[in-house]
Amino acid sequence: MNDLATLQQQIFNKFSQLKNKEDLENLRIEVLGKKGSVSKLFQDLATIDKDKKKEFASQLNILKSKILEEFNKYSSKFGQDELEKKLHSETIDVTLPTPKKPQGKIHPVSQVIDELTCIFAELGFSVAEGPDIENEYNNFTALNTPPNHPARDMHDTFYLDENKQTLLRTHTSPVQIRTMLNDKPPFKIIAPGRTYRCDSDQTHTPMFHQLEGLYVDKNVTMADLRGCLDYFLKKFFEVDQIKMRFRPSHFPFTEPSAEVDIGYEIKDGKITIGQGDKWLEILGCGMVHPNVLKNAKVDSRKYQGYAFGVGIDRLAMLKYGINDLRSFFESDVRWLEHFGFNANDVPSNYRGLAR
Ligand code: PHE
Repeated sequence: MNDLATLQQQIFNKFSQLKNKEDLENLRIEVLGKKGSVSKLFQDLATIDKDKKKEFASQLNILKSKILEEFNKYSSKFGQDELEKKLHSETIDVTLPTPKKPQGKIHPVSQVIDELTCIFAELGFSVAEGPDIENEYNNFTALNTPPNHPARDMHDTFYLDENKQTLLRTHTSPVQIRTMLNDKPPFKIIAPGRTYRCDSDQTHTPMFHQLEGLYVDKNVTMADLRGCLDYFLKKFFEVDQIKMRFRPSHFPFTEPSAEVDIGYEIKDGKITIGQGDKWLEILGCGMVHPNVLKNAKVDSRKYQGYAFGVGIDRLAMLKYGINDLRSFFESDVRWLEHFGFNANDVPSNYRGLAR
């Protein structure tokens, strides 16, 4: 009896000195393992006198259950400790700002295309597309610009074959032809995209972007064109008034043709669009030439319409104060970091177009 009490005391002392799960396991083996001190006593039962055996066995069982109880207590304590340690080392404070990682930005040209798409969608225009590699017919002939027409020289075309049958489109106007040949009137589309001319200086790059507009229906007039452009320019530059003038011009595919200027002024080195006594040429437009409608299989006695073409890069430069067009295409991350847009700032008509 006394021996058992001493043994229990010793074991319990060892429990109190345990530091971790491994210590606990070692103690379990030392006490309850096959050759453990308590297990051994159970084995000794066989050699004990019958009259003492019952009493001793019951004491031994009590001891064992006390040890097991203690064992469970420590086991859950160490388990808990481990869990807490793990939880502590793996905590994430979700209220902290995220570490600064390199983040992509939306290029001003993409941003402006999205803005224009929003504005024209409000007026009922849908987006049409055409390939960068065009055939001569869609880029020139169908647009009432036959071979040897002087307007062809103005375009500094990149031809892709010796016979000058395939080329990089010099404007987005061939999308007018593609759209009309593919469907039936009325047509109300915009076509943003890349265009190419062999030209390079501060305001010209061999690749640039245009947005084409085409509206063909039964009663479309020049007044509709003016209203549409006035609305688009006011929305785009986010101003209430825009001073605008139509200057007579010439494009083979429109008659009459005009170039549109908007008023601006520079005060304290800052440009204000829409007012002032200076003029800035911004786009070309006109009423679609009957020959173009004919080439696109549209009955020009029933239908008429307007078309316009505007330089997207130019719009981006004016709106966001970027003064060298070439910087748009240099892929300098510092430039993009400065002039680029957050990917989540998608332009929309209800939330505002820009940041
Ligand atoms: N395609 C013309 C250009 O690139 C612009 C334009 C488009 C003019 C549609 C009139 C109508 O200069």
